[in-house]
Amino acid sequence: MGKARIVFVCGSCGHESSKWMGQCPNCLTWNSYTEKTKMDTKKGTLKSNYECQPISNLTDIVVEQDREATLIGELDSVLGGGLVKGSLVLIGGDPGIGKSTLIMQLAESLSKDNKKVLYVSGEESTTQLKLRADRLKVKGDNIYIKCETAFSMIEEEIKKFKPNLIVIDSIQTVYCDDLSSAAGSVSQVRELTNRLMNISKRFDVTTIIIGHVTKDGSIAGPRVLEHMVDTVLYFEGESSMSYRIIRSVKNRFGASNEIGVFEMTDSGLVQVTNPSKYMLTGKPVGKSGSVVTCAMEGSRPLLIEVQGLVSKTSYGMARRSANGTDSNRVNLLVAVMEKRLNINMSEYDSYVNIAGGLKVNEPSIDLAIICAVYSSFRNLIIDEHTIIVGEVGLTGEVRGITQFEKRAAEAKKLGFKRIIAPKANVNEAKKQEDIEYVGVGEVKEALNVLLGR
Ligand code: TYD
Ligand code: MG
Repeated sequence: MGKARIVFVCGSCGHESSKWMGQCPNCLTWNSYTEKTKMDTKKGTLKSNYECQPISNLTDIVVEQDREATLIGELDSVLGGGLVKGSLVLIGGDPGIGKSTLIMQLAESLSKDNKKVLYVSGEESTTQLKLRADRLKVKGDNIYIKCETAFSMIEEEIKKFKPNLIVIDSIQTVYCDDLSSAAGSVSQVRELTNRLMNISKRFDVTTIIIGHVTKDGSIAGPRVLEHMVDTVLYFEGESSMSYRIIRSVKNRFGASNEIGVFEMTDSGLVQVTNPSKYMLTGKPVGKSGSVVTCAMEGSRPLLIEVQGLVSKTSYGMARRSANGTDSNRVNLLVAVMEKRLNINMSEYDSYVNIAGGLKVNEPSIDLAIICAVYSSFRNLIIDEHTIIVGEVGLTGEVRGITQFEKRAAEAKKLGFKRIIAPKANVNEAKKQEDIEYVGVGEVKEALNVLLGR
């Protein structure tokens, strides 16, 4: 047996110290240290049950991934085909973005499939839950709700009820009653997740943990749990916009960075099956400064509109600003335009916007950004059936991009007639019918094509 030792642990970040301190040197929280007893394990007391073995020995292990389709297509595709039995899924997002709504809809869908769901809410009362359920027309007979925040009670309920799916809404409101730190602190949410993981693996139930993304550090955000869970999904999109994007940031059972697109309506989240079309609704026709491009979101091509606006600066120094993409990248691209196209942009403010509120940081939209800014600068209207893709380097060269054929296919599907793309890609690609491929090697060439030269 090891020796018992007294340590002091910060209730906010879990930092350990041998003496009490007023302020935690790690997270700078005041008065957060509490006394704990810790057992030291003696060297040599731990024994491993088995020895290391060659990986070829593992061939006889049959991998059975028991997936339950959620029957919500977009969610299934983000999860890589459905929820894996016994896995731990973390869903993060800003407060009010629709996490509880989505999970309630998921619960309904599983309940129809005769799966028992235990929905633990630490945030809302039964009345509030009922209001939401009514709104979403959820009446699943197999969904049981429990408004509870003490983990020991929740654990008891899980053991008694034996659900197929446990939902914890949200991890920041539940607390382990035997820990002294406050609910929502890092040590609490970590310990809770650990215990949930044990339960989930022991009883083979799927667990969904909802976590709020927080701005200040007083409540631990979902990021501190990412390494512990099997799958991490994040909600993206502005709460002021009606669409919501769910992205898998980590997935032990499928590809990460996949997205699912939903629209928030009066009766909950509705799947958007053709997101490209959705992203382009409202695109102006016959106006300068608007270009359509194609970005890859995971394995999915997504058509988006890039807007550029150039206006005379009213201050001495020109402003460069970007919304929905990296502003440093925009600065760089404007500099490339100045140097390689001999355009004097120093007297003009340049703004770039990805319409629809989507955030895209893929270099393949570089050429579209330049064309949008140029289009606004010269008041040149770009043909609405043209799509522009390509990465731009510092010498003004247009560089090849990945998954070009997929992008071209998506453009064709939405009725585009011409694709301006890197020469390297166009030369190698298997071409689609009814769409004209224009390969360009330099930014200048692309602009000449647009100018009809
Ligand atoms: P909610 O799922 O409660 O957010 P979270 O759990 O992420 O905090 O959703 C909150 C917002 O969604 C709220 O502003 C109202 C809106 N909403 C709808 O527009 N339609 C609906 O059917 C529902 C249930 C919510
Ligand atoms: Mg909620």
